[in-house]
Amino acid sequence: MAAPAVLPSFSSADRRELTAEAGDLIDRLRRHGGGADGSVTRLVYTPAWQAAMADIEDWLTSGGLEVRADAVGSRFGRLAGESREVVLSGSHTDSVRAGGAYDGVLGVVMAGCAVRWLVASLGRPKRTIEVFANCEEESSRFASNFWGSRAIAGQIAPDEAERLTDADGNTIGAAMRSCGLDPTRIHEATRRDLVAFVEPHIEQGPELAEAGDVVGVVDQVVGVRGLRVSFQGVAGHAGTIPMARRRDALAGAAEVVLAAERIANEQGAPAVATVGHLDVQPGGFNQVPGSAHFTIDFRHPTETVLDDMEERLLRLLDTVAAERALEVRVKPLIGQPGIRFDDRVCGILETACRESGVPWRRMPSHAGHDAQLIGTLCPAAMLFLPSQGGHSHRPDEHTDIVHVGCGIEVLVRTLFRLGWGG
Ligand code: HGY
Ligand code: MN
Ligand code: MN
Repeated sequence: MAAPAVLPSFSSADRRELTAEAGDLIDRLRRHGGGADGSVTRLVYTPAWQAAMADIEDWLTSGGLEVRADAVGSRFGRLAGESREVVLSGSHTDSVRAGGAYDGVLGVVMAGCAVRWLVASLGRPKRTIEVFANCEEESSRFASNFWGSRAIAGQIAPDEAERLTDADGNTIGAAMRSCGLDPTRIHEATRRDLVAFVEPHIEQGPELAEAGDVVGVVDQVVGVRGLRVSFQGVAGHAGTIPMARRRDALAGAAEVVLAAERIANEQGAPAVATVGHLDVQPGGFNQVPGSAHFTIDFRHPTETVLDDMEERLLRLLDTVAAERALEVRVKPLIGQPGIRFDDRVCGILETACRESGVPWRRMPSHAGHDAQLIGTLCPAAMLFLPSQGGHSHRPDEHTDIVHVGCGIEVLVRTLFRLGWGG
């Protein structure tokens, strides 16, 4: 794909206008699922999620895009081109529990701003361009493992809709039906028309802010695996059961928490391992814990290293269970291989950074993203913006609005090359 000449015009006034529009939209969307402490909890198929999707849909429509929902409820704002080949850009609209206002949805806002400017300024592209508002990426309500982008990749198994349940026992299929979506049609979300994907996103780590760079051109994403583990022991009286007779599920889990940390440390950076959730029953201060349910998340760019870490964790679970006379159950929670992105799309992003006068660096992503699935369907890359303090997945997650404006300009220039290029 030969790149065309430079974009006809993109002024500092354009950047200012798009920055203001993005700021307004971020403020509007943070109310859907927003808490008094500044946190955002916008779980897929909940009323907050539905309200955010409706808002996004209205905004994209008012910008001249034709909006449709796919079978799992992701929205696509389409600018039809001469060809039906689609250049896609955007990210997810759901959030973690008690997360911030930027993870995911900022990518939708940036793509929407960029494409709205392109429609108004240049009209019809060669390739069709779509803004992607993905329904779900975080697995924060269901263990749905990149639900929206797996639907696009045709990777959702037929039984998943009625098998995956949330903490209240609702299936994801029932949750879809409550939003007017038909889970028997999930397969219709599969795409074969994508020719490029660019995902704008916050970095969620400290590298850009510490280096003083404004854009990260992301050329790879680490692989992620998650396990859900249950230890079943025997509950009882905290005073009367002698130590030698205990089958304390939490004590077993505590060993695993520390061992997971040790396995990642022994593997060395960039390996990481996290126990982010632990539920202890019955939970009284004067009761020996009878059961402990917890998650283990571990990450590394290389599949064989992830295999090795998983094997070590599984062996360890068996050892701890045997030594403490606990029953152990392990279920996969999530898992996606890492990816190396397309060099040409990374190069186009770098050119766009140079043209925009924005300091940038190439970097890997240590967080999981939709692009690691969609990048298996078409050439893809990501554009990162700095996260203040490197913070994410917490209420004070923040990205400077000036950086958002820079990122939108880079995205305008990138989508111009991908959409209007030869
Ligand atoms: O967990 C992740 O890496 C992402 O934020 N979903
Ligand atoms: Mn996230
Ligand atoms: Mn995200």
